[in-house]
Amino acid sequence: MEALVIGASRGIGLAFIRQYLGMIHCQRVYGTYRHLSAELKLLQTQYPERLVLLPVDVTKEDQIIQAIATLKGQAQRLDEVIYCVGLLHQQTLQPEKSLRHIHPENLLTYFQINAIGAVLWAKHLAPLLRHGDRAVFAAISAKVGSIEDNRLGGWYGYRASKAALNMFLKNIAIEWKRTMSQAIVVALHPGTTDTELSQPFQKNVPPEKLFTPERTANQLRLVLDRLTDQDSGQFLSWDGTPLPW
Ligand SMILES: NC(=O)c1ccc[n+]([C@@H]2O[C@H](COP(=O)([O-])OP(=O)(O)OC[C@H]3O[C@@H](n4cnc5c(N)ncnc54)[C@H](OP(=O)(O)O)[C@@H]3O)[C@@H](O)[C@H]2O)c1
Repeated sequence: MEALVIGASRGIGLAFIRQYLGMIHCQRVYGTYRHLSAELKLLQTQYPERLVLLPVDVTKEDQIIQAIATLKGQAQRLDEVIYCVGLLHQQTLQPEKSLRHIHPENLLTYFQINAIGAVLWAKHLAPLLRHGDRAVFAAISAKVGSIEDNRLGGWYGYRASKAALNMFLKNIAIEWKRTMSQAIVVALHPGTTDTELSQPFQKNVPPEKLFTPERTANQLRLVLDRLTDQDSGQFLSWDGTPLPW
């Protein structure tokens, strides 16, 4: 099999790269990064034949197109694609606790990274996933993107961008059901995972509910391996249970 991890430099994406490299039936894994981390660079020197790295800022469609052109020079097809890119906070942007904190430019950033990036990748990757065999396009979403499950409010931009991501994935699933019915499209909730993204918000998380990135990748692997075409268009939690939209 050949796989692509979008957002492979750290966190859950990096754990997926390590997982694919540990799978003997995975001939090659492609990983994209915006900032090349030391860990990803080291893996590339350890697996020069099996790990191919591509620089992509997902807010730039021309960079997505360029990366796919490079990828097509080496791969005729992809069997699994996992979108692991995400933003909750950065130096100049904190999740909004109240309407008072809403800034249009921050909302735009959340939507570009958490939602629009994924649908752009789907747009340009479709030919590589259309090959007659099972193909998976999964994106790491978040339970807080569930409208029905929203009891606490807050985090306007993050929640809304994940809800938008979920809608994009549902739409892609419906379109591909008609045009490439072997493709399975899912939104996955990873559970709270110890990464830079969750770091400032881990205080009240009991230790048994804070997963290492490796554990999260392993749990999601079990979910991915069980998927059939009947599951396309679902929003699934880390233990495989369906989540409300
Ligand atoms: N950790 C959790 O508890 C948790 C819970 C629910 C959902 N999630 C979701 O899981 C996914 C992975 O998160 P994580 O916890 O692994 O976070 P993380 O460690 O902070 O990693 C975020 C990733 O997103 C990439 N990224 C951000 N902006 C980008 C851009 N403009 N272009 C390209 N790449 C960009 C980063 O790339 P660079 O390092 O190269 O910049 C990095 O690879 C996210 O979608 C997140 O929302 C996480």
